[in-house]
Amino acid sequence: MASSLPIAQSAAAVSGSNLPLRSIPGDYGLPLFGAIKDRLDYFWLQGEEKFYQSRVEKYNSTVFRTNMPPGPPLAKDARVICVLDQKSFPILFDTTKCEKKDVFLGTYMPSLDYTNGYRVLSYLDPSEERHTKLKQWCFDLVKRNGRNFLPDFHTEIEKSMDLWEAALAKGEKADLSQEVQVFAINFLLRSIVHRDPAAPGEFSLGRNAGAFSSAWSNPQLLPIAGATGLPHPVEEVLHTIALPFKSVKEQYDAIFNFIKTYAADELREAAKLGIEKNDAVTNLMFFISFNGYGGFNIFFPQLTGYIAKCGPELMQELHAEVTAAVAATDGKVTPKALENMPLLKSVVYEGFRFRPPVPYQYAKAKTDFVIESHVSSFQVKKGEMLFGYQPYVMHDGRVFEKPDEFLPRRFMGSEGEELIQNVFWSNGRETEDPTVQNKQCAGKDLVVTMSRAYVAEMFLRYKEFTMDVEGSGNALKLFFSGLKRA
Ligand code: HEM
Repeated sequence: MASSLPIAQSAAAVSGSNLPLRSIPGDYGLPLFGAIKDRLDYFWLQGEEKFYQSRVEKYNSTVFRTNMPPGPPLAKDARVICVLDQKSFPILFDTTKCEKKDVFLGTYMPSLDYTNGYRVLSYLDPSEERHTKLKQWCFDLVKRNGRNFLPDFHTEIEKSMDLWEAALAKGEKADLSQEVQVFAINFLLRSIVHRDPAAPGEFSLGRNAGAFSSAWSNPQLLPIAGATGLPHPVEEVLHTIALPFKSVKEQYDAIFNFIKTYAADELREAAKLGIEKNDAVTNLMFFISFNGYGGFNIFFPQLTGYIAKCGPELMQELHAEVTAAVAATDGKVTPKALENMPLLKSVVYEGFRFRPPVPYQYAKAKTDFVIESHVSSFQVKKGEMLFGYQPYVMHDGRVFEKPDEFLPRRFMGSEGEELIQNVFWSNGRETEDPTVQNKQCAGKDLVVTMSRAYVAEMFLRYKEFTMDVEGSGNALKLFFSGLKRA
């Protein structure tokens, strides 16, 4: 397939590229079998990192053709052009050249039963009118509730901290992974829906909002998930069947009804923008339970683990920086205090660089065009699917020195600030803003603020911590084995 694609000899000249035009290396193998072989390589025989690394080496190129999971029978067409360096990856952000319709999870899309029959915002292309309305509503609701997030986060994480300390005092484990499932969603619900999810009442979620959200989102992700902790043959079955929505309907209904009942303020604003009520409830649930909680649930534990690995010296520095910054704000974590924590800011960006929480991005070419890696240019044809694995791109040694080391100070100082534009966790450059015309994360600024707030709250209360790790990959569980109070 690859070598049979016609290459326009003048393409590089038309695109203005000075780099030699190379036909995209790699192939898709035999129909059906090629995609299954690549899926087995991806999840079983090689594993994610080796899958990419071995192909980069084999083709001597960071741009190549391959199949991406899940492949058959869930995805009709698994063929992609993989872009794995800092120069080619940003093509995925270019909505003038690429279409982003239904590619949120790649070559496969979960049943609309999971989203009340609606294609929610993450699956919409900016050319669709609903994208404009829903994204604008999302921007507005984040802004309208801007003052709520930091205090609500403080309230929620304090409860988890009390539980960790009580557990440790009893000689039990202090479970970070479990508590993130509570505080990382409860503050979002409090701030946006204006109701404590644990407050008694007909639609109370107790401490289960995160567990219910995970139960609802996991089956949507399982076809493209590896390292689940399950035996490979079982995982392989899960890559080939779509679990029915009815298995998680109860958990879905609990959150849907909570939002429908209590989010009256925001639903009224949606109506003003012409968004129908059920569409609004479904999307608000997706913003909070999938986009927001889903991201924080991955990122907070990861970041905590990286900080712990750096050891007590970094922790003491963070503690000193946070304590000094909040001295001017009544001891509270406020936007102003967060601005005075340069080390902490750099640590958070390094966390996003080291392992971007949403690793996969897809986009379909709307026309023919040429892309460039650091060393070659390549002709892409209209209709071809482009795919980028962000963790690899964030370890591009041509841009980041010692890319495989977690360097807490990487983004400090003027040289460090320059590097921030190369951080892409939000599906866009960190120095650019989400708009209704692009597909960059609508919660970008909120996410950065809350990630900083998380680290700040930790080091306001603790001088140091030590951790235990159980499992690996998506089955990783993190516990505090010691928390030294400030
Ligand atoms: C889109 C990451 C939190 C709302 C995205 C995308 C990424 C991302 C990578 C682009 C997906 C794609 O099209 O390929 C994250 C991460 C988060 C996070 C890592 C937390 C750590 C949030 C929060 C909100 C939010 C808190 C809202 C309150 C959205 C929305 C979109 C989106 C609405 C779709 C944008 C569009 O379709 O134009 N996010 N996100 N996200 N995110 Fe976030």
